[in-house]
Amino acid sequence: MFVLGIETTCDETAAAVVERVDDKRPGRILSNVVLSQVNEHAAFGGVVPEIAARAHVETLDHVISKALADAGRTFEGIDGIAAAAGPGLIGGVIVGLTTAKAIALVNEKPLIAVNHLEAHALTARLTDGTPFPYCLFLASGGHTQIVAVRGIADYVLLGTTVDDAIGEAFDKTAKLLGLGYPGGPQVEKEAVRGNPQRFALPRPMLGRPEPDFSLSGLKTALRLEAERIAPLSDQDVANLCASFQQAVVEMIEDRVRTGLHLFNTRYGAPTALVAAGGVAANQPIRKALHRLAYDAKTILVVPPPELCTDNGAMIAWAGAERLAHGFVDGLDVAPRARWPLEEVIGMRPQVAYRVRQ
Ligand code: KG4
Ligand code: ZN
Repeated sequence: MFVLGIETTCDETAAAVVERVDDKRPGRILSNVVLSQVNEHAAFGGVVPEIAARAHVETLDHVISKALADAGRTFEGIDGIAAAAGPGLIGGVIVGLTTAKAIALVNEKPLIAVNHLEAHALTARLTDGTPFPYCLFLASGGHTQIVAVRGIADYVLLGTTVDDAIGEAFDKTAKLLGLGYPGGPQVEKEAVRGNPQRFALPRPMLGRPEPDFSLSGLKTALRLEAERIAPLSDQDVANLCASFQQAVVEMIEDRVRTGLHLFNTRYGAPTALVAAGGVAANQPIRKALHRLAYDAKTILVVPPPELCTDNGAMIAWAGAERLAHGFVDGLDVAPRARWPLEEVIGMRPQVAYRVRQ
């Protein structure tokens, strides 16, 4: 089964073609075209929704053509058209979903409206064929969640952030310290030459019984330290980055350990700890997750960085998984700015299956 996937929920215009053979095997990526809008947004220190939507309109056709050409296929050779239908910046989501509807209608192919978080959640099956059930740690610019992934369209939220997402905290730290956008990679780079013990920053939520996260106290503490010692030398910036990253790593270790424990209690041993989302590209965080998986006697699955950050292959793959289960959508499916993962359901024509809790 070959599926075309379209991703336009944030600042990447992306399209890809993937092949899915069966439930056991990893997928095959025939093409994966990602056009980043980073330069368009850099001057503003963050994504500007209106600029993002316009850029998607201008480039999506070309990105899709290239994805098909790279895969050596035409629309006739595609079995389904998948697009991220949310959550995300609504202008961009509308561009991607409407384009997918038009392609599906003209070519008489099934349309699959994919939840962007579901796509991150299922990427481990594309890369490694990870069987269900597994414990997902999803950390991106907009989301920080621990999820029990029990099957297609069967996701149970175990923990989440009560304020900022981890990627967002990295981005805000970078902005505060005058580093570029997106902030995560910059903070990680600066931290290499910094002293993680230099500043005693808080580790919010440590030891709490529920595997939730909180980042805003850490963010405020960092700002106060930076203001206290201003003007900042290069070494100060590196030390602040290292101290911030160390606090985040320790928080993740504690929270994900608690999440794995909760998973075990409710569902038995997970087949893997899976990391997804842009933050999973961070090396010290990956190391911490390795330790956690080892301690929990499971394995760690982390997709390569280009599949951890937003891309079309993950949308195509989630579309293929859903299509294989007969979950398709009508042309009236609506784009959604807000769409929590646990509200994702498997839709077969005429029949809706609610998520088991
Ligand atoms: O999944 P993603 O590409 O887009 C969203 O859906 O948000 O994640 C982007 C986020 C940004 O906040 C970025 O700063 C963060 O992931 N990120 C990192 C690293 N690379 C990207 N955070 C920490 N360390 C990194 N190396
Ligand atoms: Zn994402």
